[in-house]
Amino acid sequence: PLVKFINADNEIYEVNAEIGGNLMQVALDNGIDEILGECGGSCSCATCHCYIGDDWLAKTGTPDDTEQEMLECALAQKVNSRLSCQIKITEDLDGLIVHLPEAQY
Ligand code: FES
Repeated sequence: PLVKFINADNEIYEVNAEIGGNLMQVALDNGIDEILGECGGSCSCATCHCYIGDDWLAKTGTPDDTEQEMLECALAQKVNSRLSCQIKITEDLDGLIVHLPEAQY
């Protein structure tokens, strides 16, 4: 599936994501500097914070309690905030739009 990352300067990175992986890993594999992923994807750092495009919120689902708690630590949290390591890539996410925060901390 194709995933479009848009950073705070409106620069767009279009990348191919592998099914079965997670969104944080996709960003790292494609050199997207705005996503840090310091804990390696175990939902304990919040440096993989991103914002899901409005049209995609239904498909990406809602954060579970652990993710929700970690999200409270993220800078500039919004209603569409997610931790990208908790989003699993599926065929359904083809065309996904992900906005990147200006900073992770
Ligand atoms: Fe640490 Fe996602 S990589 S919470």
